[in-house]
Amino acid sequence: MSINVYLNGEFLPVEEASVSVTDRGFLFGDGVYEVIPVYGGHLFQLQHHLQRLHNSLRGIGMANPHTEAEWEEILTRLSAQLGESDQALYLQVTRGCTDVRDHAWPENLEPTIYARTKILKTPTAEEKRRGIHAITLDDTRWEHCNIKAITLLANVLARREAAEAGAQEAILIRDGLATEGAASNLFIVRNKLLMTPPKSNSLLPGITREIVLELAKQHGVPYAEANISVEDLHSADEIWMSSSTKEILPVLKLNGLNVGKGVAGETWEEMNALYESCKERLREGGDI
Ligand code: PDD
Repeated sequence: MSINVYLNGEFLPVEEASVSVTDRGFLFGDGVYEVIPVYGGHLFQLQHHLQRLHNSLRGIGMANPHTEAEWEEILTRLSAQLGESDQALYLQVTRGCTDVRDHAWPENLEPTIYARTKILKTPTAEEKRRGIHAITLDDTRWEHCNIKAITLLANVLARREAAEAGAQEAILIRDGLATEGAASNLFIVRNKLLMTPPKSNSLLPGITREIVLELAKQHGVPYAEANISVEDLHSADEIWMSSSTKEILPVLKLNGLNVGKGVAGETWEEMNALYESCKERLREGGDI
Protein backbone atom coordinates (compact mmCIF):
# COMPACT_ATOMS: atom_id res chain seq x y z
CA MET A 1 0.00 0.00 0.00
CA SER A 2 1.55 3.25 -1.04
CA ILE A 3 1.48 6.33 1.15
CA ASN A 4 -0.73 8.83 -0.67
CA VAL A 5 -2.56 10.67 2.09
CA TYR A 6 -1.70 13.28 4.68
CA LEU A 7 -4.24 13.49 7.50
CA ASN A 8 -3.83 15.65 10.60
CA GLY A 9 -0.09 15.23 10.91
CA GLU A 10 0.24 11.67 9.60
CA PHE A 11 1.30 10.28 6.24
CA LEU A 12 -0.58 7.08 5.43
CA PRO A 13 -2.20 4.94 2.71
CA VAL A 14 -5.72 5.99 1.71
CA GLU A 15 -7.04 2.63 2.96
CA GLU A 16 -6.00 3.61 6.48
CA ALA A 17 -7.22 7.20 6.41
CA SER A 18 -10.54 7.96 8.10
CA VAL A 19 -12.35 10.98 9.44
CA SER A 20 -14.98 11.17 12.15
CA VAL A 21 -18.67 11.38 11.22
CA THR A 22 -18.84 14.44 13.50
CA ASP A 23 -16.59 16.37 11.10
CA ARG A 24 -18.31 19.58 9.96
CA GLY A 25 -17.04 18.98 6.46
CA PHE A 26 -19.10 15.79 6.39
CA LEU A 27 -22.14 17.30 8.13
CA PHE A 28 -22.26 20.81 6.63
CA GLY A 29 -19.78 20.93 3.75
CA ASP A 30 -18.02 23.37 6.08
CA GLY A 31 -14.55 23.65 4.59
CA VAL A 32 -12.39 24.72 1.66
CA TYR A 33 -10.05 22.99 -0.77
CA GLU A 34 -7.38 23.28 -3.44
CA VAL A 35 -6.26 21.12 -6.35
CA ILE A 36 -2.57 21.53 -7.17
CA PRO A 37 -0.89 19.88 -10.16
CA VAL A 38 2.61 18.45 -9.69
CA TYR A 39 4.89 18.15 -12.72
CA GLY A 40 8.17 16.23 -12.46
CA GLY A 41 8.20 16.64 -8.69
CA HIS A 42 7.46 20.41 -8.80
CA LEU A 43 4.26 21.77 -7.28
CA PHE A 44 2.78 24.04 -9.94
CA GLN A 45 2.15 27.64 -8.83
CA LEU A 46 2.24 26.56 -5.18
CA GLN A 47 2.39 30.09 -3.75
CA HIS A 48 -0.70 31.06 -5.73
CA HIS A 49 -2.62 28.01 -4.56
CA LEU A 50 -1.59 28.65 -0.94
CA GLN A 51 -2.61 32.29 -1.22
CA ARG A 52 -6.01 31.28 -2.58
CA LEU A 53 -6.36 28.70 0.21
CA HIS A 54 -5.56 31.44 2.71
CA ASN A 55 -8.20 33.71 1.15
CA SER A 56 -10.78 30.90 1.16
CA LEU A 57 -10.09 30.15 4.83
CA ARG A 58 -10.42 33.84 5.70
CA GLY A 59 -13.62 33.96 3.64
CA ILE A 60 -15.22 31.34 5.90
CA GLY A 61 -13.81 32.74 9.14
CA MET A 62 -11.10 30.13 9.70
CA ALA A 63 -7.50 30.68 10.70
CA ASN A 64 -4.87 29.17 8.43
CA PRO A 65 -3.56 26.16 10.39
CA HIS A 66 -0.12 26.32 8.72
CA THR A 67 2.44 28.77 7.47
CA GLU A 68 3.41 28.67 3.79
CA ALA A 69 6.66 26.91 4.69
CA GLU A 70 4.78 24.25 6.68
CA TRP A 71 2.34 23.66 3.84
CA GLU A 72 5.19 23.40 1.39
CA GLU A 73 6.94 20.83 3.57
CA ILE A 74 3.81 18.70 3.97
CA LEU A 75 2.81 18.81 0.31
CA THR A 76 6.33 18.25 -1.03
CA ARG A 77 6.77 15.25 1.25
CA LEU A 78 3.41 13.84 0.15
CA SER A 79 4.06 14.28 -3.56
CA ALA A 80 7.56 12.75 -3.20
CA GLN A 81 5.81 9.48 -2.31
CA LEU A 82 4.85 9.08 -5.97
CA GLY A 83 8.27 10.05 -7.27
CA GLU A 84 8.48 12.33 -10.26
CA SER A 85 5.23 11.26 -11.93
CA ASP A 86 2.72 13.98 -12.74
CA GLN A 87 0.17 14.26 -9.96
CA ALA A 88 -2.96 16.07 -8.86
CA LEU A 89 -2.74 16.96 -5.22
CA TYR A 90 -6.07 17.51 -3.46
CA LEU A 91 -5.95 19.51 -0.25
CA GLN A 92 -8.90 20.10 2.06
CA VAL A 93 -9.32 21.90 5.36
CA THR A 94 -12.59 21.54 7.24
CA ARG A 95 -13.65 23.32 10.40
CA GLY A 96 -13.23 20.17 12.46
CA CYS A 97 -15.30 17.84 14.63
CA THR A 98 -18.04 18.70 17.11
CA ASP A 99 -20.37 16.35 18.89
CA VAL A 100 -23.21 18.85 18.89
CA ARG A 101 -24.63 19.39 15.42
CA ASP A 102 -25.22 23.12 15.34
CA HIS A 103 -24.96 25.38 12.29
CA ALA A 104 -23.13 27.97 14.38
CA TRP A 105 -19.68 26.65 15.18
CA PRO A 106 -18.09 26.61 18.61
CA GLU A 107 -14.74 28.35 19.12
CA ASN A 108 -11.42 26.54 19.29
CA LEU A 109 -12.15 23.64 16.98
CA GLU A 110 -9.20 21.66 15.63
CA PRO A 111 -9.46 21.78 11.83
CA THR A 112 -9.31 18.53 9.88
CA ILE A 113 -6.45 18.76 7.41
CA TYR A 114 -6.46 16.27 4.59
CA ALA A 115 -4.42 15.94 1.42
CA ARG A 116 -4.29 13.19 -1.16
CA THR A 117 -2.06 12.81 -4.15
CA LYS A 118 -2.91 10.85 -7.28
CA ILE A 119 -1.23 10.19 -10.59
CA LEU A 120 -2.39 12.79 -13.11
CA LYS A 121 -2.56 11.77 -16.74
CA THR A 122 -2.75 15.07 -18.57
CA PRO A 123 -4.40 14.86 -21.99
CA THR A 124 -2.09 14.98 -25.03
CA ALA A 125 -2.43 17.90 -27.45
CA GLU A 126 -4.30 15.54 -29.77
CA GLU A 127 -6.73 14.52 -27.04
CA LYS A 128 -7.27 18.15 -26.08
CA ARG A 129 -7.80 19.11 -29.71
CA ARG A 130 -10.83 16.80 -29.78
CA GLY A 131 -12.31 19.29 -27.32
CA ILE A 132 -15.47 19.13 -25.27
CA HIS A 133 -19.13 19.97 -25.58
CA ALA A 134 -20.76 22.43 -23.20
CA ILE A 135 -24.25 23.60 -22.37
CA THR A 136 -25.34 26.85 -20.74
CA LEU A 137 -27.22 26.75 -17.44
CA ASP A 138 -28.46 29.29 -14.93
CA ASP A 139 -25.91 29.77 -12.16
CA THR A 140 -27.75 28.64 -9.04
CA ARG A 141 -24.73 28.95 -6.74
CA TRP A 142 -24.31 31.30 -3.78
CA GLU A 143 -22.73 34.76 -3.85
CA HIS A 144 -19.22 33.80 -2.76
CA CYS A 145 -18.02 31.76 -5.71
CA ASN A 146 -14.54 33.24 -5.22
CA ILE A 147 -14.22 31.00 -2.14
CA LYS A 148 -13.11 27.48 -3.09
CA ALA A 149 -15.62 25.84 -0.75
CA ILE A 150 -16.15 22.08 -0.59
CA THR A 151 -19.90 22.79 -0.61
CA LEU A 152 -20.32 21.95 -4.29
CA LEU A 153 -23.90 20.72 -4.70
CA ALA A 154 -24.90 23.32 -7.30
CA ASN A 155 -21.73 22.55 -9.33
CA VAL A 156 -22.35 18.82 -9.00
CA LEU A 157 -25.93 19.16 -10.27
CA ALA A 158 -24.81 21.41 -13.14
CA ARG A 159 -22.20 18.85 -14.23
CA ARG A 160 -24.83 16.11 -14.02
CA GLU A 161 -27.19 18.10 -16.21
CA ALA A 162 -24.37 18.64 -18.71
CA ALA A 163 -23.60 14.93 -18.75
CA GLU A 164 -27.27 14.11 -19.35
CA ALA A 165 -27.19 16.45 -22.34
CA GLY A 166 -24.10 14.65 -23.69
CA ALA A 167 -21.78 17.52 -22.69
CA GLN A 168 -18.71 17.59 -20.44
CA GLU A 169 -19.12 21.04 -18.91
CA ALA A 170 -21.82 23.54 -18.02
CA ILE A 171 -21.16 27.25 -18.62
CA LEU A 172 -22.98 29.15 -15.90
CA ILE A 173 -25.02 32.27 -16.60
CA ARG A 174 -25.74 34.90 -13.96
CA ASP A 175 -27.65 38.12 -14.71
CA GLY A 176 -27.18 37.61 -18.46
CA LEU A 177 -23.41 37.12 -18.13
CA ALA A 178 -21.39 33.94 -18.57
CA THR A 179 -19.25 33.57 -15.44
CA GLU A 180 -17.36 30.26 -15.54
CA GLY A 181 -17.82 26.51 -15.84
CA ALA A 182 -19.07 24.17 -13.11
CA ALA A 183 -15.39 23.30 -12.44
CA SER A 184 -13.41 25.54 -14.78
CA ASN A 185 -12.89 29.13 -15.91
CA LEU A 186 -14.16 30.51 -19.17
CA PHE A 187 -12.35 32.17 -22.08
CA ILE A 188 -13.67 33.23 -25.46
CA VAL A 189 -11.95 34.55 -28.57
CA ARG A 190 -13.79 37.07 -30.75
CA ASN A 191 -12.12 38.80 -33.68
CA LYS A 192 -8.71 37.65 -32.34
CA LEU A 193 -9.35 39.17 -28.89
CA LEU A 194 -9.04 36.74 -25.98
CA MET A 195 -11.59 37.55 -23.26
CA THR A 196 -12.32 36.21 -19.79
CA PRO A 197 -14.69 37.60 -17.16
CA PRO A 198 -13.00 39.84 -14.57
CA LYS A 199 -12.46 38.47 -11.07
CA SER A 200 -15.48 38.94 -8.83
CA ASN A 201 -17.55 37.07 -6.26
CA SER A 202 -19.24 35.29 -9.17
CA LEU A 203 -16.27 33.15 -10.09
CA LEU A 204 -13.27 31.34 -8.74
CA PRO A 205 -9.98 33.15 -9.39
CA GLY A 206 -8.48 30.17 -11.23
CA ILE A 207 -4.75 29.63 -11.15
CA THR A 208 -4.80 28.32 -14.72
CA ARG A 209 -6.79 31.42 -15.74
CA GLU A 210 -4.02 33.56 -14.27
CA ILE A 211 -1.34 31.65 -16.19
CA VAL A 212 -3.25 31.99 -19.46
CA LEU A 213 -3.46 35.77 -18.94
CA GLU A 214 0.24 35.94 -18.03
CA LEU A 215 1.19 33.95 -21.14
CA ALA A 216 -1.04 36.16 -23.30
CA LYS A 217 0.71 39.21 -21.88
CA GLN A 218 4.22 37.78 -22.34
CA HIS A 219 3.57 36.68 -25.92
CA GLY A 220 1.54 39.60 -27.22
CA VAL A 221 -1.82 37.82 -27.54
CA PRO A 222 -4.43 40.61 -27.32
CA TYR A 223 -6.62 39.99 -24.27
CA ALA A 224 -9.14 41.67 -22.02
CA GLU A 225 -10.75 40.89 -18.69
CA ALA A 226 -14.28 41.86 -19.62
CA ASN A 227 -17.84 40.72 -19.06
CA ILE A 228 -19.05 38.08 -21.50
CA SER A 229 -22.73 38.30 -22.33
CA VAL A 230 -24.76 35.34 -23.51
CA GLU A 231 -24.70 36.93 -26.98
CA ASP A 232 -20.88 37.21 -26.89
CA LEU A 233 -20.70 33.57 -25.93
CA HIS A 234 -22.93 32.46 -28.78
CA SER A 235 -21.06 34.53 -31.35
CA ALA A 236 -17.56 33.56 -30.14
CA ASP A 237 -15.01 32.23 -32.64
CA GLU A 238 -13.49 30.09 -29.89
CA ILE A 239 -14.51 29.07 -26.37
CA TRP A 240 -12.09 27.47 -23.91
CA MET A 241 -12.41 26.15 -20.38
CA SER A 242 -9.40 26.12 -18.04
CA SER A 243 -8.55 24.24 -14.86
CA SER A 244 -5.55 22.78 -13.07
CA THR A 245 -6.32 19.20 -14.02
CA LYS A 246 -7.84 19.66 -17.51
CA GLU A 247 -5.56 22.58 -18.44
CA ILE A 248 -7.04 24.45 -21.43
CA LEU A 249 -9.75 22.67 -23.38
CA PRO A 250 -11.47 24.01 -26.48
CA VAL A 251 -15.27 23.83 -26.48
CA LEU A 252 -16.29 22.66 -29.95
CA LYS A 253 -20.05 22.61 -29.43
CA LEU A 254 -22.24 24.87 -27.30
CA ASN A 255 -25.83 23.76 -26.71
CA GLY A 256 -25.42 21.33 -29.63
CA LEU A 257 -24.23 23.98 -32.14
CA ASN A 258 -20.70 24.36 -33.52
CA VAL A 259 -18.48 26.97 -31.89
CA GLY A 260 -16.75 28.83 -34.74
CA LYS A 261 -15.78 26.23 -37.31
CA GLY A 262 -16.39 23.40 -34.83
CA VAL A 263 -12.68 22.62 -34.48
CA ALA A 264 -10.00 23.78 -32.04
CA GLY A 265 -9.13 27.37 -33.00
CA GLU A 266 -5.84 29.05 -33.89
CA THR A 267 -5.59 31.06 -30.71
CA TRP A 268 -6.18 27.91 -28.66
CA GLU A 269 -3.38 26.14 -30.59
CA GLU A 270 -1.03 28.99 -29.74
CA MET A 271 -2.02 29.17 -26.07
CA ASN A 272 -1.93 25.41 -25.59
CA ALA A 273 1.61 25.28 -26.99
CA LEU A 274 2.66 28.09 -24.65
CA TYR A 275 1.08 26.29 -21.70
CA GLU A 276 2.84 23.03 -22.58
CA SER A 277 6.22 24.76 -22.78
CA CYS A 278 5.59 26.40 -19.46
CA LYS A 279 5.04 22.94 -17.91
CA GLU A 280 8.24 21.69 -19.55
CA ARG A 281 10.21 24.61 -18.12
CA LEU A 282 8.90 23.73 -14.70
CA ARG A 283 9.88 20.06 -15.11
CA GLU A 284 13.43 21.27 -15.77
CA GLY A 285 13.39 23.30 -12.58
CA GLY A 286 12.59 26.67 -14.17
CA ASP A 287 9.61 28.96 -13.67
CA ILE A 288 6.65 29.79 -15.89
N1 PDD B 1 -11.76 23.09 -10.03
N2 PDD B 1 -13.90 27.49 -11.40
C1 PDD B 1 -14.37 26.47 -10.66
C2 PDD B 1 -15.77 26.53 -10.17
C3 PDD B 1 -13.53 25.37 -10.36
O1 PDD B 1 -14.00 24.38 -9.60
C4 PDD B 1 -12.21 25.35 -10.87
C5 PDD B 1 -11.25 24.22 -10.60
C6 PDD B 1 -11.77 26.43 -11.65
C7 PDD B 1 -10.36 26.51 -12.20
O2 PDD B 1 -9.43 26.82 -11.19
P1 PDD B 1 -7.91 26.34 -11.29
O3 PDD B 1 -7.40 26.80 -12.59
O4 PDD B 1 -7.26 26.98 -10.13
O5 PDD B 1 -7.90 24.82 -11.22
C8 PDD B 1 -12.64 27.48 -11.88
C9 PDD B 1 -10.91 22.05 -9.54
C10 PDD B 1 -9.85 21.57 -10.49
C11 PDD B 1 -11.76 20.95 -8.96
O6 PDD B 1 -12.75 21.29 -8.32
O7 PDD B 1 -11.41 19.77 -9.09
